[in-house]
Amino acid sequence: MEKAININRPSSADGMSRIDGRLKVTGAAKYSAEYAVEGLTYGVLVGSAIAKGSIAAFDIKTAERAPGVLFVVTYLNAPKVPGFQPDQKGVRAQLKVFNDDKIFYNGQPIALVIADTYERALYGASLVKATYNKEEHQTNLTENFGKGYPPRGDGLYKRGTEDAWKSAPIKLEQEYMVPTNTHNPMELHAIIARWDADDKITVWDKTQGVKATQHDISQLFNIPLENVQVNSRFVGGAFGSALRTWPHEIVAILGAKAVKKPVKLVLSRADMFTSVGYRPHTWQKIGIGATADGKLTGITHQAYGQTSPYENFTEGAVNVSQSLYACPNVNTKYNLVALNVGTPTWMRGPGEATGAFALESALDELSYVLSIDPVELRLRNYAETDPENGKPFSSKYLKEAYQLGADHIGWNDRKQQPGTVKKDGWFVGYGIGCGMFGAYRSGATVKATMKADGTLHLQSAVSDIGPGTGTAMVLIAAEQMGMPADKISFENGASDLPQAPTQGGSATTASVGSAVHQACVELKDKIQKLTGNSGTDNPDYAQILKQHDLPLLEVTAKSTGGEGRDKYSMNSWSVHFVKVLVNGSTGVVKIDKVASVADCGTIISPKTARSQIVGGAIGGIGMALMEEAVIDHRYGRYINNNYADYHVPVNADIPQIDALFVNKPDPILNPMGAKGMAEIALVGMAAAVANAVYNATGKRVRELPITPDKVI
Ligand code: MOS
Repeated sequence: MEKAININRPSSADGMSRIDGRLKVTGAAKYSAEYAVEGLTYGVLVGSAIAKGSIAAFDIKTAERAPGVLFVVTYLNAPKVPGFQPDQKGVRAQLKVFNDDKIFYNGQPIALVIADTYERALYGASLVKATYNKEEHQTNLTENFGKGYPPRGDGLYKRGTEDAWKSAPIKLEQEYMVPTNTHNPMELHAIIARWDADDKITVWDKTQGVKATQHDISQLFNIPLENVQVNSRFVGGAFGSALRTWPHEIVAILGAKAVKKPVKLVLSRADMFTSVGYRPHTWQKIGIGATADGKLTGITHQAYGQTSPYENFTEGAVNVSQSLYACPNVNTKYNLVALNVGTPTWMRGPGEATGAFALESALDELSYVLSIDPVELRLRNYAETDPENGKPFSSKYLKEAYQLGADHIGWNDRKQQPGTVKKDGWFVGYGIGCGMFGAYRSGATVKATMKADGTLHLQSAVSDIGPGTGTAMVLIAAEQMGMPADKISFENGASDLPQAPTQGGSATTASVGSAVHQACVELKDKIQKLTGNSGTDNPDYAQILKQHDLPLLEVTAKSTGGEGRDKYSMNSWSVHFVKVLVNGSTGVVKIDKVASVADCGTIISPKTARSQIVGGAIGGIGMALMEEAVIDHRYGRYINNNYADYHVPVNADIPQIDALFVNKPDPILNPMGAKGMAEIALVGMAAAVANAVYNATGKRVRELPITPDKVI
């Protein structure tokens, strides 16, 4: 019990618990919607009922007269957004919401009803009527390939000979489909917006980057940067959905301006399907060729991904095929199809997760044609240097990862012949899927304050959307300072704290961690100058400050974006081993066991690292077996826009998931030797499941999710 109560005490085997774990599980952690701002009013969005066209007329009179309703904001009466320029350079919120009568997608915000209570705003919103000039919309990706266009440049990549796979002795070509997945974090997106003066604003907002949101608001509303305060102390999951500024944030700020009172806007679960991005529905085709002994000779990877009519959202879906395996001839092509939907955005393992489903499925298919074990086939095509640019990897321990995972799952029990192992009416199968993701780092600043009582306080603007950033930062400082973790605190998630990048792309530990490391180095330096010696392993900092009559010692340290990218290719790697049971009568797929192995450098915080890998594996299982946001194309409207109909895995769906780490430092990326792990935890997982289902049944499902109807 003690372990559960004393959250800061490092427990022996599995590492320190989250520094904010207790706050979160007791409800003491305050999320953006929970701030009791004085004079708060409540906004509810009204969405467009059509998918394309324009608003002919509004009838808002009844809504305005409803009890408690203060104002109904529409494009006709909304304050202007000065940052809405025709070319919109530098501002990422690119739907010019409430700017004109244009409708681009079903559910697009057309009105905000503000009332004195949430319930009255909700009722008011139900009374807003609009009529439309309807135009014919398109929401079906597969019917619109003809409208595909390259994202930028020509969208083409080539090394060696184009379509070389076609002349290979062993070859295959297949199509793969990843449907729209939505992030749907538990915490709904929410913002409280308050104007403090005509040119001063404070928001409590769910965002992965308070500095980026501050910048966007400053640009959009033409307010000096320092007059915009963005707070996002706790974030209840995001997975990419809070990586950018969205229309609802602008709308709340407009509403607060209109009523001259703070406005709280919490998206409904249904709004979450249309308002904060999603993993785009993507069709892919892979041609792959090899010699009879399993050496890859050519890969051609094409994709069509959907985007909105007003933005070209582009992700690296085909990029995995450029770097995952040693293959002399690779060409890829990526096209966008603009549909009447909101703009997609990065969702955990963005692009790579989509691409790896196709590539890792295709490689598995090839392994059966060749009759070569899928692990062995990967080893025969192991890339010792980055085949895309010829650079050495800063570190790559994927071979070690294969070995760890294969041993752990019991790969030797796998039979190459599909559909041959049956137990109690369930077919048994094993699958593997690999992932990679760039290991990034960007500049960050951390302020470290050593107080008279010998406690250390770290400050950084960075958001912590759930990976346990604060916990890792405290552990980095504890090691550097030679002091117990429970004497260190970490403050984050506010734009008036020192500069930090947006939490995304698995780069926070490398970026902010380097700044924490640097701050500790500089702090120790200061202390050594005071004491005149090189210090001991566990200095008594309180004593030192007392001796020198200092109330505190502080440093503000900057770390850079790192070095070596010109010489090295830097990536994290994962391999997922999955054992499934497939019911022979119903086609139900049960995940029996998962071993996910990551080469993500040094493990700084074992407990939260494990949670990252387990969470990513669960996300991958959802992607593989359940998740699909379905549009009724007649109306261009999502029909399963709730947690009851959009299935995500629950405890009953999740078996034993073991996270294993190679745990060898990357010598280049940062002083801790850590690489990112958020994205690779999911990349490759869906293919591992699909490949296991094939091994169990002989049924190849190339269109996610793998629902029972596709298996039997
Ligand atoms: Mo992550 S998709 O970079 O939040």
